[in-house]
Amino acid sequence: MSQPLKHYLHFGDASASDYAYLFSRTATIKHKFKTYEKHQPLVDRSLAMIFEKASTRTRISFEAGMYQMGGAVVHLTTGDSQLGRAEPIEDSAKVISRMVDLVMIRTYEQTKIERFAANSRVPVINGLTNEFHPCQILADLFTFIEQRGDVKHPLDCLKGKVVAWVGDGNNMANTWLQAADLLGFTVHVSTPSGYEVNHAIAGVKNTHCFKVFKDPLQACQGADLVTTDVWTSMGYEAENEARLKAFAAWCVDGRMMAQAKPEALFMHCLPAHRGEEVQAEVIDGPQSVVWDEAENRLHVQKALMEWLLLGRL
Ligand code: CP
Ligand code: NVA
Repeated sequence: MSQPLKHYLHFGDASASDYAYLFSRTATIKHKFKTYEKHQPLVDRSLAMIFEKASTRTRISFEAGMYQMGGAVVHLTTGDSQLGRAEPIEDSAKVISRMVDLVMIRTYEQTKIERFAANSRVPVINGLTNEFHPCQILADLFTFIEQRGDVKHPLDCLKGKVVAWVGDGNNMANTWLQAADLLGFTVHVSTPSGYEVNHAIAGVKNTHCFKVFKDPLQACQGADLVTTDVWTSMGYEAENEARLKAFAAWCVDGRMMAQAKPEALFMHCLPAHRGEEVQAEVIDGPQSVVWDEAENRLHVQKALMEWLLLGRL
């Protein structure tokens, strides 16, 4: 049966109830993967992946995930398609979405993915834009639930928790704010001045879901999760030198982790730069769950693709 057309362009494109379903479905799908049980609800379906920026995790998790679910994948980049030769996004969307069942896009401005979705006959997934990275936050939340909660009541362990965001007010930070707003936790944000998070971009109306701190040590105080990201995101490379100076005090180290709760977790979406945004003692230390976090991209995105194409099962 065909489903009403849904896109996943930012974290607000699913409700709290959808997330409760997606997290418990992810647990089922992950269990099957770990016990070598086939899970192939997407036989004969195909996914087009469009990358205008580099990727390791996003590409492999979507590509392997689609094959494991019985489907197929087409991989396009700006350089090897007409996308790089100024074919209008609207025309590309109309053509591509007549030939595949699902599209994943990694690009620059959020408006580009919105224009594509507005002209697509099939669901479109945001695989990272300048503004948002919802698939990563989906994986991060599932990892937190696995470590600290109960997949039967997945949202319960998130309520009232504190996530410390140390670093750039970037696509990851915006998406954390959206998740906090929807799922009832608080983000303690500390960025250098000039790199603040902008809750209007995130579309967050409830300003109680985040608190801004000048001092990253204070942001980490009492946190249940400390997380960070690269100082220079893709597309901002020209600012690298200025950012290296501005962010020097925003490196997550043992002192920051010591301010958080003793059972606090550390996450990083990767790729990481040890000695810049995080010290090796933290990312390679006992509180870090970065490898589970990376693996969980595979499992959450399988649940997401299945939900977009087949609804709740
Ligand atoms: N975290 C993440 O999206 O990684 P990639 O850039 O390797 O896809
Ligand atoms: N904020 C980073 C995330 C990389 C996965 C970027 O946009 O480059």
